[in-house]
Amino acid sequence: MKAPSDLLRRLRARFDETGYTIDGVRERLGDVAAGALAREELVPALRATKDLDPLAALIRLWWLGVPVSTAAADLPLSELVQCGLLVKVGDAVQASVHLQPWETGGYVVSDRKVRPGDPAVRRDHVVGAGGASANLAQLVTRQPVERALDLGTGCGVQVLHLADRAGHIVATDVNRRALDLAQLSWGLSGIEGVDVRRGSMFDPVEDERFDLIVSNPPFVISPHARLTYREAGYQADDFCRELVRLAPTHLNPGGHCQLLANWLHVKGEDWQDRLGGWLAETGCDGWAVQRDAQDPAEYVELWLKDAAEQGTPAYRERYDEWLAWFEAQNVTGIGFGWITLHASGTLDPVVRVEELSQQVELPVGAYLADILDSITTAHRLTDDDLLATALHLSKGVLEERIGLPGAEDPTHIILRQTRGLRRTTTVGTVEAALAGVCDGQLPLAPLLAAIGDILGEQHLSPTPLRPLIAEGYFHT
Ligand SMILES: C[S@@+](CC[C@H](N)C(=O)[O-])C[C@H]1O[C@@H](n2cnc3c(N)ncnc32)[C@H](O)[C@@H]1O
Repeated sequence: MKAPSDLLRRLRARFDETGYTIDGVRERLGDVAAGALAREELVPALRATKDLDPLAALIRLWWLGVPVSTAAADLPLSELVQCGLLVKVGDAVQASVHLQPWETGGYVVSDRKVRPGDPAVRRDHVVGAGGASANLAQLVTRQPVERALDLGTGCGVQVLHLADRAGHIVATDVNRRALDLAQLSWGLSGIEGVDVRRGSMFDPVEDERFDLIVSNPPFVISPHARLTYREAGYQADDFCRELVRLAPTHLNPGGHCQLLANWLHVKGEDWQDRLGGWLAETGCDGWAVQRDAQDPAEYVELWLKDAAEQGTPAYRERYDEWLAWFEAQNVTGIGFGWITLHASGTLDPVVRVEELSQQVELPVGAYLADILDSITTAHRLTDDDLLATALHLSKGVLEERIGLPGAEDPTHIILRQTRGLRRTTTVGTVEAALAGVCDGQLPLAPLLAAIGDILGEQHLSPTPLRPLIAEGYFHT
């Protein structure tokens, strides 16, 4: 599906005039209808747009996917029908794609989300921008780069986020239809010059290197590759593993690779060792975060529902087959999260694998460099280096003391980050005392000596500070 750039420009101008923007749609629908839409319930949004004023007509046509009478749709209809974006249905028109404003100020074109009762999802379905797309976009570093790669571009949404900070963008996908729709997204968003390549994994960029590689890959782990947007046909979690393994050969010195991934939790194996093993093989500094984990049944239900298969005759059979397949591989759960590699060039790379389930400050990409710096600093400073370093307590760290009412001493002292990754940790008296005095003025050695004098303890070790530096409570 292709559309002339002039038609896309006129369509975009129409959207701007009419207020078919993120704010315009939100305001027109109101919180209740917008909330219901997020749950895939259309009725409140249909009620909110029943007047069929120009904005309501655009929302119905492109976002809700329902037919709109040709009289109400004030658009270049015959041109849109000719290039396949609209189809005629009696004296109405209906969109053949989902076309929504996006948070960057651009537009995303994809296939419409299937809902229960719709015909089965086509194999080359192009998934729309959603929570996972936004999740990756929030994670990606904000540093400007010369060359960026979006591997598995789909509807092209990551390019919308990269466009203002990458000199040259290569976008790849195995799915030709995805590349067609992505080009519509970019055309409507005023983005030119994206280098589009079709092919699997890193094949289309065989000998090339990038400063930034981003990927929201087809990470779903299932017995069959039925839907291209989510399953690549590799064994178990091997697609993500392979992406991580191959990425360093496509990174320029100092470059980053950032992706979303799923990984298996297998009986008798620590998932952190499994994931840490993937990253350790790369020779890059690495940071992997599990944001969520599901048991096999929850996972299968999520992805069967994602393809609107609940209630279909095949539902139980597919559910059973998928669970049996997990069982045969001793799978106890499936993790979801973020992977970041940094080709720092060090001979002593560090890998941190952790679980973070709390709400974090967004966008993470704005302070990614600090996170990676904390991890590597903590790893590389020897105890002697630490003793000679003047540490700062990081901005936004608060102390909480919990204890029995009336008791002289607290039972727990907690340091809480109110910014960034918003971690909390329980600390001892020494670390709490350091939190009160580390303002970058004095090295750690005299501070520890003074605290030791007060507590009656000699030769306090700086070692307990190392995890607090890695987690960003203190910095150098
Ligand atoms: C989950 S979608 C991501 C779309 C978009 N980048 C986003 O952030 O929302 C994954 C994309 O990977 C593509 N894909 C599937 N198998 C692939 C492969 N072997 N190599 C490259 N891309 C692949 C799919 O066609 C799909 O467009």
